[in-house]
Amino acid sequence: MKLSDKDFEVLRDFIYNHCGIYFHTSKKYFLESRLARRIEVTKVAGLTGYLALLKSGAGRSEELTRLLDEVTTNETCFFRNPPQLKALETVFLPEIIATKGKIGFRKLRIWSAGSSSGEEAYTMAMMLLEKRATVLKDWIIEIVGTDINETVLAQAREGVYNSYAVRNTPEFYLKKYFREEAGGRFVLSPEVKKLVSFNHLNLYEDAKMVFMKSFDFIFCANVLIYFDLASKTKVVQHFYNNLQPYGYFFVGQSESLHGVNDKFKTIHFPGGFAYKK
Ligand SMILES: C[S@@+](CC[C@H](N)C(=O)[O-])C[C@H]1O[C@@H](n2cnc3c(N)ncnc32)[C@H](O)[C@@H]1O
Repeated sequence: MKLSDKDFEVLRDFIYNHCGIYFHTSKKYFLESRLARRIEVTKVAGLTGYLALLKSGAGRSEELTRLLDEVTTNETCFFRNPPQLKALETVFLPEIIATKGKIGFRKLRIWSAGSSSGEEAYTMAMMLLEKRATVLKDWIIEIVGTDINETVLAQAREGVYNSYAVRNTPEFYLKKYFREEAGGRFVLSPEVKKLVSFNHLNLYEDAKMVFMKSFDFIFCANVLIYFDLASKTKVVQHFYNNLQPYGYFFVGQSESLHGVNDKFKTIHFPGGFAYKK
């Protein structure tokens, strides 16, 4: 399926206006191949028919959901960013526990925004479970994973992974929190799954973003790399608003908010940095 430059722009703008993901012209081939697949499955009459289908229905059409499932990149794994996790465990978490402990508010709220199939959120859950008997005794822990892609959200809720997903998982966690089954299936323990809920959320949808309130830690790693400056700026402002005054915001290892948001303060740690209000 070949797209004219004009048609490519129509489709690109449609996706961008809905979810902030910006496809550069160099991604034309990628969009063409995904689009061809959807046109074949839906049996509509070419691009014109497909665009009509996309725009049909109020709000998020069924076909738009399927298209976004095709065009989002969902690469992730457990324990993806070790320096960040170490800083969180040794510095940021103890700091937040002390601050909230002092005011008698024993509840932690963590958000994995663009959670994909759940590995980032579950990594946090396992790390916090290790503190259940000590510093987090009697604390309420709420971890929320959100994504725009329904297919990966279903995988996250199922909690069954392959060996590639757990390749960076320390042996200790692998033995304690997974059951290895035949065929290289790693089934996450119910104890971990219980701490996390997964919801559909489009980070570009202001009306929904304003309700994601009062988080102590927000992760939005390897998501904003697919956005352009304007859509990044808009989404990051929501994270700023939704973070507690003492909370921390984390992006991916090779990302930064330079030129995107100048309200956040940069907090350096060995091997990376976090953001704070
Ligand atoms: C590469 S994965 C990152 C997963 C995980 N955060 C990590 O760092 O390993 C990017 C995820 O962001 C999601 N995503 C992209 N645009 C989004 C949007 N507008 N709203 C919500 N999720 C989005 C994709 O569906 C995908 O699952």
